[in-house]
Amino acid sequence: MFPMRVWVAVVFIMLVTTVAAKPRRILLDTDVDLDDVFALLYLLKLNRSEFQLEGVTINANAWTNVGHAVNQVYDILYMMGRDDIAVGMGGEGGILPDGTILPNVGGYLSIIEQGMTTTGGCRYRQAIPIGHRGILDIDTIYGIRKAFLPQGIRKYTPLGQPTAQQVLIDKISAGPITLIVIGVQTNIAIFLMNNPHLKKNVQHIYIMGGAVRSTDPTSCCPKNASFSCIPGQCGDRGNVFTNYEANPYAEFNIFGDPFAAYQVIHSGIPVTLVPLDATNTIPINEEFFNEFEKSQDTYEAQYCFKSLKMAKMARDKLDNQFYTSYFMWDSFASGVAVSSMRNSNKKNKRENEFAHMEYMNITVITSNKPYGISDGSNPFFDGLKVPKFNLKKGGVHSGHVQQGLRDKFCFVKNGKGRCQDGYTAEVDGPDSVKVLVATKAKPNRDVRSKLDKEYFKSFLNVLKQPQHAGRFNFTTQFPYYEEVTYMPDFQNKTLGKPVVFDMDMSVGDFLALFYLLKVDVEVINLKAIIVSPTGWANAATIDVIYDLLHMMGRDDIPVGLGDFFPMNQSDPIFPTAGNCKYVKAIPHGNGIHLKIP
Ligand SMILES: *[C@@H]1O[C@H](CO)[C@@H](O)[C@H](O)[C@H]1NC(C)=O
Ligand SMILES: *[C@@H]1O[C@H](CO)[C@@H](O)[C@H](O)[C@H]1NC(C)=O
Ligand SMILES: *[C@@H]1O[C@H](CO)[C@@H](O)[C@H](O)[C@H]1NC(C)=O
Ligand SMILES: *[C@@H]1O[C@H](CO)[C@@H](O)[C@H](O)[C@H]1NC(C)=O
Ligand SMILES: *[C@@H]1O[C@H](CO)[C@@H](O)[C@H](O)[C@H]1NC(C)=O
Ligand SMILES: *[C@@H]1O[C@H](CO)[C@@H](O)[C@H](O)[C@H]1NC(C)=O
Repeated sequence: MFPMRVWVAVVFIMLVTTVAAKPRRILLDTDVDLDDVFALLYLLKLNRSEFQLEGVTINANAWTNVGHAVNQVYDILYMMGRDDIAVGMGGEGGILPDGTILPNVGGYLSIIEQGMTTTGGCRYRQAIPIGHRGILDIDTIYGIRKAFLPQGIRKYTPLGQPTAQQVLIDKISAGPITLIVIGVQTNIAIFLMNNPHLKKNVQHIYIMGGAVRSTDPTSCCPKNASFSCIPGQCGDRGNVFTNYEANPYAEFNIFGDPFAAYQVIHSGIPVTLVPLDATNTIPINEEFFNEFEKSQDTYEAQYCFKSLKMAKMARDKLDNQFYTSYFMWDSFASGVAVSSMRNSNKKNKRENEFAHMEYMNITVITSNKPYGISDGSNPFFDGLKVPKFNLKKGGVHSGHVQQGLRDKFCFVKNGKGRCQDGYTAEVDGPDSVKVLVATKAKPNRDVRSKLDKEYFKSFLNVLKQPQHAGRFNFTTQFPYYEEVTYMPDFQNKTLGKPVVFDMDMSVGDFLALFYLLKVDVEVINLKAIIVSPTGWANAATIDVIYDLLHMMGRDDIPVGLGDFFPMNQSDPIFPTAGNCKYVKAIPHGNGIHLKIP
């Protein structure tokens, strides 16, 4: 018989080994841009006894419309056989004027603009182009999404959809977890502000975002570059390409909600940042593109490559700068995160397979000096006796907050823009946080390889491996699906009044369209449909009109997509981005407003 002490030791050793063998739980917060899809698929393909993706929450106030994004995530998870992974988006909760955060805030708005409903302005979001090279391309992945992804069982269901906050609470309260955040920080910040008691379960936060010491990689533009490169931006740190003149410092994921990013980075949870400093050193070059084209062994590799090829075509039309201006942003961040987690038990925690890492003391700039002067730009302070969230008068959040793309405050005569909202600045002192920063992508150790970066090799290998591969794509899921064009035959009919129908894709408009299609063609002859994406629906919803016409046997009717902005609301210098003066009255969520007494 063993003495008691030995038994205790044996049990202890068994406990330690079972603990060590447990996979690391991960939650991904994403805005479902194309490089986010790369990151998601990379994480899904890892060895599940090492890494277990538990949940995906969708960031709703940046590069996608969440109604399209959520269905894309569901379909990808279905393809990968992972309907078990929770997906959270949206929610109808709000923030009271005194700063009380109610449950289920949807994250459709940056925290500074979040009131009691899902309606509100676009202070930062207006820097994102809506159509080409912007939200329309991403909602649809250039049309590839609908043509390629299988159709899953899960879909967005109003009132039944789990919210981002619910999924965060469920997954984080269930045990230690790591967050990988590759979109704007709103969901995570709201979670941390509202559930401080659950912070202890968040082991680490990996963030793709920010610009610490970076310089713009396309700086000192080639002579013939298009609008994506504006002369004079040489050396700019950030990447908000619609807005360099006002704010040369910000990177989109932080600029989308600087106050939220501040909350996350200053939360006390260990943070690793993968900023532009590092991602700028891993542009998608021709060699990687060609190797990727050759490694199409799985459906997920096919989906990523087809989409990337379309992104390249779309950019080549513009300025031929694809290979110098398109980076592995979010997928690189997921790689750095995975390598860091693998090394987290080692003595040198800084070691990383894919990136050089360095500790830096940083903060997030949320407002511009001078602090404490009320100039009408800062809703946290202006007109309030007690600042929102009890923020300090005269503190770092109390200065001028950038308003719009052409905020006059930000411009300096004959100089660079002076607004720094969203800048991840290096500072020392009490208001700084020590974070581990990826500074540079590491070269490929295999010098004979055509791929120049270590991560390129890992990305292609992981994506093409048969382990945890996708089960099918659209064509293999529906082998009998045919592409047919239905053209009606009106040969012997006297056609009625020619009609053009101008609609905005709200529910009533679809009823009206059905009606027009059902009326005898000898009375009304529907010649064309023009669609306005400036109202109740976004441009990507145009697919529903195509499907409806197909169902009604009327593939002959042309459908035209209208302007993205009402008159005089697009930006005069960068017309694919612009204001939301009228659209801000339309709810982003279910449209059910809470009655405020
Ligand atoms: C996954 O990881 C476990 C534990 O480290 C290991 O035993 C297993 O062989 C790995 N599976 C593959 C396919 O690499
Ligand atoms: C689906 O996969 C098959 C087999 O790899 C491929 O031939 C087909 O082109 C894919 N479908 C689409 C829409 O790309
Ligand atoms: C820009 O210049 C480069 C080098 O001279 C050339 O290869 C490229 O085709 C040009 N692009 C456009 C859009 O004219
Ligand atoms: C960060 O700040 C701490 C405490 O103020 C200081 O000891 C440390 O040297 C700083 N690190 C860097 C890299 O500046
Ligand atoms: C139109 O009328 C001609 C002559 O009556 C007939 O042969 C033809 O089938 C009709 N076409 C249709 C589509 O009804
Ligand atoms: C748009 O702006 C132009 C020039 O600023 C002005 O002349 C015109 O009246 C404006 N149109 C509308 C509809 O506001």
